[in-house]
Amino acid sequence: MNIIFMGPPGAGKGTQSDFIIEKYHIPHIATGDMFRAALKNETALGLEAKKYMDAGKLVPDEVTINIVKERLQEDDTKDGFLFDGFPRTIAQAKALDEMLSGMNRNIDLVINIDVPFDTLLKRLSGRRICKSCGASYHVEFNPSKVEGVCDKCGGELYTRSDDNEESARVRLETYTNETKPLIAYYQEKGLYHEVNGLQSVEDVFNDIAKIIEGK
Ligand code: AP5
Ligand code: MG
Repeated sequence: MNIIFMGPPGAGKGTQSDFIIEKYHIPHIATGDMFRAALKNETALGLEAKKYMDAGKLVPDEVTINIVKERLQEDDTKDGFLFDGFPRTIAQAKALDEMLSGMNRNIDLVINIDVPFDTLLKRLSGRRICKSCGASYHVEFNPSKVEGVCDKCGGELYTRSDDNEESARVRLETYTNETKPLIAYYQEKGLYHEVNGLQSVEDVFNDIAKIIEGK
């Protein structure tokens, strides 16, 4: 199954991805995580991406499309994948269609996690991420058992540099202008599904699982 997770920053894409990959055994391809990993390794790609990420802007399409193209060449994606945060522009969606058709593959489902903007700002400002395994927590809505420590691996929790209020506002604006038009793009293709992201993490996951299993 080839799935795209859409949704504004803070909607819960990363949180839900953890459940999906565990249940359906498909690789998680999150362009934001790939850029953050590149930055951690101080590669040219990471340093280039940081400029855009910290400002809440999108990394240029050409750069993003290339890293996805390379990732899709890897064997583990052959039996399915879960995209989180890609595509994010119409140009990326068209490039993805082209890439996949050249590989005789296609997207099966697009799932958008819908959450209103006032809630998203609260989610982003309270988010904490594990330095080691990338698991996502929230100081109020989804706290770790021990403050500052990951439940899953014991790693140290940190705040993402783009989760400050100013970057978060720009990210939401960028989403409205550049990513939201993808809803109509995938509706026209008959691939689009939406879940109510205001529910508990478990209920959002149950709704997503119903969509996947109804396919
Ligand atoms: P990326 O890393 O993809 O960030 P994002 O899309 O802004 O989304 P987030 O990761 O912030 O949110 P999420 O939906 O994963 O929410 P989460 O599960 O963590 O991208 C970062 C940057 O990289 C971009 O700004 C851009 O610069 C660049 N980039 C990435 N992809 C790109 C692309 N394709 N093209 C160009 N540039 C690209 O949850 C958020 C919080 O809410 C957590 O604290 C969580 O615990 C909590 N939470 C989750 N679910 C619930 C719930 N149901 N109830 C209550 N709280 C909840
Ligand atoms: Mg994420």
